[in-house]
Amino acid sequence: MIELKNITKSFGEGASAVKALDDITLKVPSGAIYGVVGASGAGKSTLIRCVNLLERPSSGDVLVNGQNLVKMNDRELRQTRRDIGMIFQHFNLLSSRTVYDNIALPLELAGKSKAEIHEAIEPLLQLTGLDEKRQSYPSQLSGGQKQRVAIARALASKPAVLLCDEATSALDPKTTNAILQLLKDINKQLGITILLITHEMEVVKSICDRVAILHGGRLIEENAVEQFFIQPQTEIAREFVRSALHEKQPAELEADFHKEPREGSRPVVRISFMGHSAVEPLITQAARQFNVDISILQADMETVHGNRMGFLTAELIGDEAATQAATNYLQQHPVQVEVLGYVN
Ligand SMILES: Nc1ncnc2c1ncn2[C@@H]1O[C@H](COP(=O)(O)OP(=O)(O)OP(=O)(O)O)[C@@H](O)[C@H]1O
Ligand SMILES: [Mg+2]
Repeated sequence: MIELKNITKSFGEGASAVKALDDITLKVPSGAIYGVVGASGAGKSTLIRCVNLLERPSSGDVLVNGQNLVKMNDRELRQTRRDIGMIFQHFNLLSSRTVYDNIALPLELAGKSKAEIHEAIEPLLQLTGLDEKRQSYPSQLSGGQKQRVAIARALASKPAVLLCDEATSALDPKTTNAILQLLKDINKQLGITILLITHEMEVVKSICDRVAILHGGRLIEENAVEQFFIQPQTEIAREFVRSALHEKQPAELEADFHKEPREGSRPVVRISFMGHSAVEPLITQAARQFNVDISILQADMETVHGNRMGFLTAELIGDEAATQAATNYLQQHPVQVEVLGYVN
């Protein structure tokens, strides 16, 4: 388990100081795949680098499997870092070494024998599908293959935790999917906890169990991925969810959309539900019972964390008491209803 407690990190001194992380507290449960998202400059890389103390926090504690890295001396820290693998956007392979020798590097540095290294690496070559590339050099590999080498190298010292900083953002969508699948397999087969940073919500949607949003160095929202998609709490989270679902603002809303109700305005709601909820009859019932017209502006089914989920944007047309009653009625059922705003 990774536990960050009140982590603050500033770069520079005095007036020109930048507060890259501001009082971050979060827990990554053992065996989870945990995603951190946020805009460029939000502090994501700084945060992940604090987990293995590549960056020393200005204040706060970093616990990995119950041990506080901040309190360790250099020897203890070196030892503990073997338990924490890391991969990066640009792979960081040594161009003069073959695939096999790149993967072997951390074990050589740890003083392992040739036999021990061989024993550790063979299963990793199988796991990452690199068996036939073992004698190739990085320049002879595709981006996806290079990232596989980086993953195998990170796993060589049998870490309990794998940190991934934008590990797929240099890859095309198909290769990205293959690497995500590999990370998922590693998580399941080896029980490794994965903390990953990404600006792609697709990554969160497909493999993460939990997600946190960083914004201006602060953690503004944290939740299980399904809950995050169904009920984002902040406008920034809603924006991420919309981008992940490829939702566009329906044209109907652009003309005269406002946050507060006005005389004669009609509510626009977002209805989210797990795939098994019978949402169609529910909407029909709400419409009939309260004499409201429900006009669907946008509808979408998506797979989120392996679950089928549905997202509707709809306009409720009727008098104010009726649309309110219909909204209340829907909210009593296993669907989430959020009033996005109003149109006239
Ligand atoms: N070594 C450093 N010295 C000074 N400022 C730094 C340093 N590293 C990061 N920063 C600043 O800290 C803030 C957070 O940077 P960070 O690299 O963590 O962002 P990020 O969320 O990873 O962004 P991106 O998505 O672009 O990778 C930025 O304002 C950045 O300029
Ligand atoms: Mg970064």
